[in-house]
Amino acid sequence: MLEVERETDRYLDRRAAVDRYRAGRRRTAEVFGMLAPEAYHERPIALRNPIVFYEGHLPAFSVNTLLKKGLGEPGIDPRFEVLFERGIDPEDQSAVPGALASWPPRAEIQAYGERADRAIVEALETKDVTREDNPVLARGLAAYTILEHEPMHQETLLYMWQRLPYEKKRAPEGAPRPILGGDPPPRAGVRIPAGPATLGARKGAIPFGWDNEFSEHVVEVAEFEIDVDDVANRDFLDFVRAGGYDREDLWSEEGWHWRRENDVRHPLFWERSGDDWTWRGMFEALPLPPAWPVFVSHAEASAYARWRDSRLPSEAEFHRAAYGTRSGSERSYPWGEESPDRTRGNFDFARSDPVPVGSFPAGASAWGVRDLLGNGWEWTSTVFGPFPGFEPMPSYPVYSADFFDGKHWVMKGGSFATAKPLLRRSLRNWFRGNYPYVYATFRTVRDA
Ligand SMILES: [Fe+2]
Repeated sequence: MLEVERETDRYLDRRAAVDRYRAGRRRTAEVFGMLAPEAYHERPIALRNPIVFYEGHLPAFSVNTLLKKGLGEPGIDPRFEVLFERGIDPEDQSAVPGALASWPPRAEIQAYGERADRAIVEALETKDVTREDNPVLARGLAAYTILEHEPMHQETLLYMWQRLPYEKKRAPEGAPRPILGGDPPPRAGVRIPAGPATLGARKGAIPFGWDNEFSEHVVEVAEFEIDVDDVANRDFLDFVRAGGYDREDLWSEEGWHWRRENDVRHPLFWERSGDDWTWRGMFEALPLPPAWPVFVSHAEASAYARWRDSRLPSEAEFHRAAYGTRSGSERSYPWGEESPDRTRGNFDFARSDPVPVGSFPAGASAWGVRDLLGNGWEWTSTVFGPFPGFEPMPSYPVYSADFFDGKHWVMKGGSFATAKPLLRRSLRNWFRGNYPYVYATFRTVRDA
């Protein structure tokens, strides 16, 4: 037993893991606590499962991954562990599975969640969850997988809540008021000299990474110019007023098809009332804040960039702008090595809305590029694909591999609803180019 304890303590601090698991479950409860009970069976995003699915999915995923796959235990309820196994990401609504005739009653799902939590905490406290002879448990892989899976879903749940009518949700007590700000700073670019960008991470160099983060490799990036700030609502309004949504020449073929089929005429987070625009915030509608980063799909971001005779940055260019320095060395975070805190950006569930672009000078990169972490994920021009040396992760083999289909684009950075551990340099997020629900903004670049 002593041997087992030593092995576990080397890769996973049991106490810290339990605290993190419990904190994650508490936050999930808070996220569900924002909803009126009658919202529970709604499907606010037609391409996703109804809300009820996710309350079962989070504990079932942890049971499937750590207890069943990792420790070889029987699990808690085989029916739930199949029903709640996996979410969906179809191309369009025709591929959405028909609504399940009846989901289990909420009380049953919550009781399952409580039993799952007790079993997971017991496993993290006492069981052999780091075994080098088991690929699912090696270096605590399954434990870290469930610890990061939970907050990732909290962000995607919030995207979903965003779409619900206001009477079906309420702000948590003490939630900060939106900071509307005035006009954004004048648009400005900064030249980034040619140099290296290190993408990905080396196995063993970080306690945990998803399979798509491995392995580390260096990309030589040519000189380019990048926007200092994310594209703000006011900038994007110029595009809307200039007829950008009517100009097929600015759009990719798929982007134009999506725009036309869905009659998209402005960002999803905007609503029009006469000549005025409203921002559809999480808990209230606000007069469109000109300085907030615009939230758009990849298709809209790309059309805007073309309209400005610019383009979206590649994943490597994002890295270079965020982590590169004049000396050629690279930083862990845009600002340096210090852990993220509230002075560096709008992330880690600090609020339910963005803040004006450029609000965090202490978070700027070596080149003075701002808001690279937080306030909104940033679309890149890079199609989501494997890095050299990619291997599907034993704890969750379909996590990335199912999405290497040429239809998903890499996003970097993070939003106000991205948990702190997910702000590491190697983390990659991805969505379809026509998915407008995400807290995703962008900035543009130009060849030097
Ligand atoms: Fe999941």
